[in-house]
Amino acid sequence: MCGIVGYIGDKEAYPIIINGLKRLEYRGYDSAGVAIVDKRTKIYKKKGKVNELEKLVYNKDVSGNIGIGHTRWATHGEPNDVNAHPHTSENGHFTVIHNGIIENYSRLKKRLEDRGYNFVSKTDTEVLANLIEFIYIKGKGEIDAEQAVRLALSKVIGAYGIVIIAKDEPDKLIAARKGSPLVIGIGEGEYFIASDATPIIEHTDSVIYLNNDNVAVIKKDQLTLKTIGNDKREPLIQKLSMDIGSIEKNGYDHFMLKEIFEQPKSITDTFRGRIAADLSEIRLGGLHEVMPKLENAKRILIIACGTSWHAGLVAEYLIETIARIPVEVEYGSEFRYRKPIIYKDDVIIAISQSGETADTLAAINIAKEAGATVVGICNVVGSSIPRETHAGVYTHAGPEIGVASTKAFTAQVTVLTMIAILLGKNNNKISEKKYLEYIKELTDIPSKVEEILKSDSLIKEISALYKNASNFLYLGRGYLFPVALEGALKLKEISYIHAEGYPAAEMKHGPIALIDENMPVVVIATQDNSYDKIVSNIQEVKARNGKVIAIVTEGDTVIKDLADHVIEVPKSHEAIAPLLTVIPLQLLSYHIAVMRDCNVDQPRNLAKSVTVE
Ligand code: F6R
Repeated sequence: MCGIVGYIGDKEAYPIIINGLKRLEYRGYDSAGVAIVDKRTKIYKKKGKVNELEKLVYNKDVSGNIGIGHTRWATHGEPNDVNAHPHTSENGHFTVIHNGIIENYSRLKKRLEDRGYNFVSKTDTEVLANLIEFIYIKGKGEIDAEQAVRLALSKVIGAYGIVIIAKDEPDKLIAARKGSPLVIGIGEGEYFIASDATPIIEHTDSVIYLNNDNVAVIKKDQLTLKTIGNDKREPLIQKLSMDIGSIEKNGYDHFMLKEIFEQPKSITDTFRGRIAADLSEIRLGGLHEVMPKLENAKRILIIACGTSWHAGLVAEYLIETIARIPVEVEYGSEFRYRKPIIYKDDVIIAISQSGETADTLAAINIAKEAGATVVGICNVVGSSIPRETHAGVYTHAGPEIGVASTKAFTAQVTVLTMIAILLGKNNNKISEKKYLEYIKELTDIPSKVEEILKSDSLIKEISALYKNASNFLYLGRGYLFPVALEGALKLKEISYIHAEGYPAAEMKHGPIALIDENMPVVVIATQDNSYDKIVSNIQEVKARNGKVIAIVTEGDTVIKDLADHVIEVPKSHEAIAPLLTVIPLQLLSYHIAVMRDCNVDQPRNLAKSVTVE
């Protein structure tokens, strides 16, 4: 939610910032803006995407070696030019970009208004800019910009990643973080600041991840780090392992398509080094210390949001079936506010692509306070959730830029499958033979996904037939019910077609009333324990003239005779089938969205990492 970029050094700041904003646009695209420091601070901002800002700035003076930029996902105040960042304080002393939410902003605003401050925007960020200025001016030359920032932040409740330009100290940028991520890249006589590492990797691979409560004062050749309470901190310099190709489209029309097609590789990367070369064992180093807790857990609670929550639901089936440990799956947003019962011997598994989702983070903190052990499964290295959890496993799917999650989901399910198999083996719930069979099944997944991707043109043809539908129903049973939910979510978020996922047997308890000749029903019907039952469900749809698009095991002849369309996936163990059956659903939603002229990578109203509750 909102992308932040900053630069200080000897180069022209504007091109670096605008490129960085393009890389971060997936975080929000309601408006964009820059502030460049030269003899004065030049500010340009515009409603809409970064290219609208570029048009505005064309032929204008953007020279200067220090600057900040912002791409917005609106929270306070509608998306328009005035509410776009950066925001400058009333007397021009401070210019601020901000990602996050100032929760007590209306109280702070009222106090500032009582002291004569006027506000031009509806944003909480302008309140922060004016609060810093108010404290600075009140200090009557006794305090500097950094002190004013720290004092102001001590009065703020909420989440922020901010970068600030101070008019009286134009040789520096001040950055601070609480809740919302900030990364600082270290170059030769220059620093880069961003919400994540994607704008930084083309300049340097040395970075500092700011911790909560950190305030950094950054000059072109010097960085000092403190807490908001003025305690000095030693910056921890880390190396990025990301490569630039992973954040480019590499010839694909959209990031989403690239990420769907990357899955044979991303799934391989997820189990690389974690499955022995001779396929004799699974090793999850990140869980080594907490493994006894997991093995002895009376209950595992899985917490996540959106697509990651669907991966959690798959894990419920996996862990309960294979390891026989009870599992409950919770939305972070519900868990945090419903006074959940948490036992000290519970193990919480938090799943998140971004590692920044506010509701998941808040739920983690509640679980930790209750004394439970918390394990994270995240994709973005160095993000907040891996820092807050006791142990964890990175999914290593590589940067996911398309707002709709695809390869992150299959990477999460791969990790969760490994955990389930390992727990099953360690707790003697599955035999050594079964353990080895599961491992083999898992390592066969990338080549099977490769096979499924060959159906892309068939899926495109099917998409053309249903692109104008107003509703879709997705049905699955057992392991494939969460896949139905995920297929429906993918379709709604990028094509804006209403879609619902259901356990197939539940259809007759309500949704069957929706079925007529205009209702496409996607049925995930690979050969498993409930095959006969799902065949009956397909017959029930056909009896009411619904159109059936079935995902079936290759060679299936029964469903071929019943369904309007079949998309085949290779045979696999039913526990592994979610990793295969989700792929055609990702492609179906992608093609339908493209045919409807929707912005696939940046669907309306959405942002990639939801850092507000
Ligand atoms: C859907 C999607 C979202 C995210 C959700 C959680 O395609 O991307 O539903 O899955 O916002 O995000 P993370 O996994 O970053 O916690």
